[in-house]
Amino acid sequence: MRHQLLSSALVLASGLLGLVESKPHFQVSARDLYVAEACDDFVYGATKTQVGKVCASILEGTMTVTFEALTEGFTYSDLHVWVGTSAPTDGNPGRAPGGFPYTNGNGKCTIAAGGATGTCTFPVASSWRSCTEVLYIVTHATIANSSGSQTAWGAGTCWVTDKGNCPKYWTITRTCYCRSTSFPEPVTMTSTSTTTYTSTSTTEYLTSTTSTYVTSTTVEYSTTEYSTTTVTSMDTLTSTSTPEPITTTVTCVNPY
Ligand SMILES: *[C@@H]1O[C@H](CO)[C@@H](O)[C@H](O)[C@H]1NC(C)=O
Repeated sequence: MRHQLLSSALVLASGLLGLVESKPHFQVSARDLYVAEACDDFVYGATKTQVGKVCASILEGTMTVTFEALTEGFTYSDLHVWVGTSAPTDGNPGRAPGGFPYTNGNGKCTIAAGGATGTCTFPVASSWRSCTEVLYIVTHATIANSSGSQTAWGAGTCWVTDKGNCPKYWTITRTCYCRSTSFPEPVTMTSTSTTTYTSTSTTEYLTSTTSTYVTSTTVEYSTTEYSTTTVTSMDTLTSTSTPEPITTTVTCVNPY
């Protein structure tokens, strides 16, 4: 009888041990186009008077262009952005900012706080996906102060040279990273059972999830899980299990 109870307690104990699953605590996404924020002076006029900064970044398939706060009482009244894999020309996209594809006029850009700042967000085109070379970017805005308006550009190379305040492009360097996400680690795990066959299983997790971007092609991680099972019957059995750390190799795949 004693042995029977003990063996059924052991069966129950191993069943509860099965609840303590090994879960991956790290995940590495496919390698993807990633551009950390790159900024450029924002200028107007033939003298290239600087009035602000414009910045661009690419993360998880979305490109973001931010028009930073302007100096000298200027506000943004119109935004236009063009992006390409070769330098702009008079034919493509032409010299008129109205022909650029990302603008507040079509909802790809928004002007915030009465013209203080602007932001454009749009999906990365498949032709932009490469882990090398540059993207060409044209950032234009109409800016205004109390005495009138100006057409302003992200500083760079003019592709039309017969104008003093010429249309300009700048470049951002393409790189690729894998996103490495670390999930909360279990900090306590307890499983208890009694001869009445009520059981509880508790797992606590830390609340934060962190993501970092990695350049290496391979990421290794180890996971250690501990479980302690206490079974109370006519006898008391305490078992402690400490599984070996699990080492898994996840490859950061280059898709291009
Ligand atoms: C407004 O902008 C013009 C350039 O368009 C500049 O010459 C002038 O000084 C600015 N006025 C004020 C009040 O900042």
